Amino acid sequence: VSTEVLGRPVSELETPAAVVNLDRLERNVARAADYAAAHGLGLYPHAKTHKTLEIAALQRSAGARGLTVAKSREAELMAQAGFGPLVLHYPVVGAAKVRRLLAVAEAVPLTVAVDSLEVAEPIAAAFRARGLTAELLIELDVGLRRTGLTPEGAVALAGEVEALGGGLVVAGISCYPGHLRYDAATIERGLVEVDAILARTRALFDAAGLRCDRISGGSTATLFLSHRTCMTELRPGNYALLDRMEARGAFGPEDCALTVHATVVSTSVAGRFVLDAGSKALGEAPPPPDLAGAAGVAGRADLRIEAASEEHAHGAGDGELPRVGERLALVPNHACTCVNHHDTLYGVRDGMVETVMRVVARGALQ
Ligand SMILES: Cc1ncc(COP(=O)(O)O)c(C=O)c1O
Repeated sequence: VSTEVLGRPVSELETPAAVVNLDRLERNVARAADYAAAHGLGLYPHAKTHKTLEIAALQRSAGARGLTVAKSREAELMAQAGFGPLVLHYPVVGAAKVRRLLAVAEAVPLTVAVDSLEVAEPIAAAFRARGLTAELLIELDVGLRRTGLTPEGAVALAGEVEALGGGLVVAGISCYPGHLRYDAATIERGLVEVDAILARTRALFDAAGLRCDRISGGSTATLFLSHRTCMTELRPGNYALLDRMEARGAFGPEDCALTVHATVVSTSVAGRFVLDAGSKALGEAPPPPDLAGAAGVAGRADLRIEAASEEHAHGAGDGELPRVGERLALVPNHACTCVNHHDTLYGVRDGMVETVMRVVARGALQ
């Protein structure tokens, strides 16, 4: 990481540059931590959003109990840097990944979430052989229809894992209510249904004599309603940086901490301007249903980014268009996929570069 930009104005950064507004980041991190503390909920922010050690450290010092990761390589990188406990919330399949988990669990307390015996059994066997133990959450499908079991399926799998004889210890259940987004009424109503599924599953676990004191859930969209559910711990990710998708409800555009600074490089086509940040700098996420385009333009409601090709943002506007050399701050549709395109996040306060953060887990896909 080059540090020669430290203490320099953000306007001197070479573009495209992923810029983090540190005041907003710190405010977002504190809000979630304070909420979790006020309601006695364990906060395990998902590190896939920022993939940096600096933001993980900020979340920890604000009171996060641990971190969530999706990939075994992310777990390895975070554990090597001393971050734990970790919740790995993704089906871990394959011997190389299981071996990596052993190293992780030797360094920090590890919890894994699974939805099948095929995934649980090799992990349990490897951990047993090494004399290690990880806590296990059985994942429920609460409406996203991506991964997870029914309540009956979850209690059956928990019993099967207990019968394996060690390595993995059933500690409870988890879910990801990622189908609840955008509209406050839908989120509120949907979360009542999610809670009913969680409560029913916990009752089934209790009746079967299975441990269920950890109930893990939580996304950014549902974050501040979690206390109305039986969740005991939360795994929001996006809330730290936010984007066009999630800056709504409890958060607004003024909370978006991540922008991609870009320079106008062409205005040769009438009525258009082109910036040097295409999908390789912004990410390729579609806009949320009520917005259009490949990104927003911070502070310029008169300008639109109608599309992004690999290296070009295609801009249009209502009045006078920006000229070649002018810089704009673009708000990505989805912060997590945007960050994964950058080696570096520049932390900025009052217009000056204060920190340079390496996206250490960039490309940690395995
Ligand atoms: C399993 C799981 N948990 C937690 C999260 C964090 O959710 P969000 O980024 O909406 O806060 C995600 C995001 O994709 C996820 O897949």
